Amino acid sequence: MGSFDLKDVLYHNFNFSNHIQNSLTKKFINRLNQDLNVRRENHLYREIKLYNGYQHNLVSNDYFQLRFHPKVIAGAKTACEKYGSGSGASPLLSGFLPCHQELLDEILNWKQKSFGMLFNSGFVANQAVLKHLPGKNDLVLADRLIHHSIAQALLPCPAKFKRYSHLDMIELEALLQKNCKNYDTIFVVTESVFSMDGDYPDLKALVAMKKKYPFILVLDEAHGTGVFGENGGGLAEEMNVLDEVDITIGTLGKALASMGAYVLANNPSIINYLTNQAGEYIYSTFLPPSQVGAALESIKLIRTFGERRKKLRSLSKYFQEGLKQKPVEFESPIIPIVIGDPQETLELRNQLLSHGILVGAVRPPTVPADSSRLRISLHSKIDETLIDELLKLLDSWKKN
Ligand SMILES: Cc1ncc(COP(=O)(O)O)c(C=O)c1O
Repeated sequence: MGSFDLKDVLYHNFNFSNHIQNSLTKKFINRLNQDLNVRRENHLYREIKLYNGYQHNLVSNDYFQLRFHPKVIAGAKTACEKYGSGSGASPLLSGFLPCHQELLDEILNWKQKSFGMLFNSGFVANQAVLKHLPGKNDLVLADRLIHHSIAQALLPCPAKFKRYSHLDMIELEALLQKNCKNYDTIFVVTESVFSMDGDYPDLKALVAMKKKYPFILVLDEAHGTGVFGENGGGLAEEMNVLDEVDITIGTLGKALASMGAYVLANNPSIINYLTNQAGEYIYSTFLPPSQVGAALESIKLIRTFGERRKKLRSLSKYFQEGLKQKPVEFESPIIPIVIGDPQETLELRNQLLSHGILVGAVRPPTVPADSSRLRISLHSKIDETLIDELLKLLDSWKKN
């Protein structure tokens, strides 16, 4: 028998496992790079950028520019000084603080709902509602262009799920009629103002269907909040259907110039169930007091912003009339300019940026194939002069 040196064996094993590890890593990284290269070739590659040197930001969702408002900043500071820089724990342990209760009460009063809870973001609020509430004998009917945070939650959701054509109330009614006897509960899920299209459903027609075919209406008011309704309560307030919406979801991150979200309901069991079941709520450090303090001040301000809401709508109309794309039907601050080709969309975005105007370039898969677009979101601090300038730039691009 030959003798062997333990050190050699260990060294050999080390080298061997190192080799396997390296080739595994290489294979894995190659797979990622292959995917990324395809995206690059198709002009669909996403990268984080610091945009400097622009004068006008027409891509943020801060429709009243409240993130710079002294009262909102003071609200954040005061809450931070009073309750600390973080909430310190998840809400069921000790993270739910008096500032969270105060904010929740203000939102419930504003949106005229009886029960609610806060979440760390609109994304996780949508995940929680749609993953946990529909059961295996249920059906979810969702608008085809529903936000990713909802669409993604419906994959692990045990309920069956079908999409109806965007804003198509006739198709929705046909689906309700066909399916109303086949499921325990039907959920209908829609955004109020659609984030990439700026249009919105006829909520009056939608709630009228509940009388014929009872269903649970889930409304994501991410982009309607602040912008619509006499008190800025959202599209449901504007269309006078607040009571008929069974579950309202909204973010604190857009017009409210903060971060976090809320889920509101008419029935306490919905909130109690999520509090007991939604890991998104139970197992995450709760939103920090500064964000809560900022959102609270934003709501107080927004409730009084009737004139600014009117201004936003008239700016939206003015811009759309100037674009001459189609008759103005929706007066939301989100205005898409569909280009189609992703590379051209990026080029036009860069061209506008070179004139100091930052707009969004949105490409698939965020929007359907061949519908890459500029996403322009107006805010109440701009005026017609900027819109005229933007229209002129778009016009000269069209002519080239
Ligand atoms: C319709 C809609 N719902 C939910 C969200 C997510 O909200 P948050 O930014 O608070 O995560 C967004 C944000 O883009 C949205 O547009």
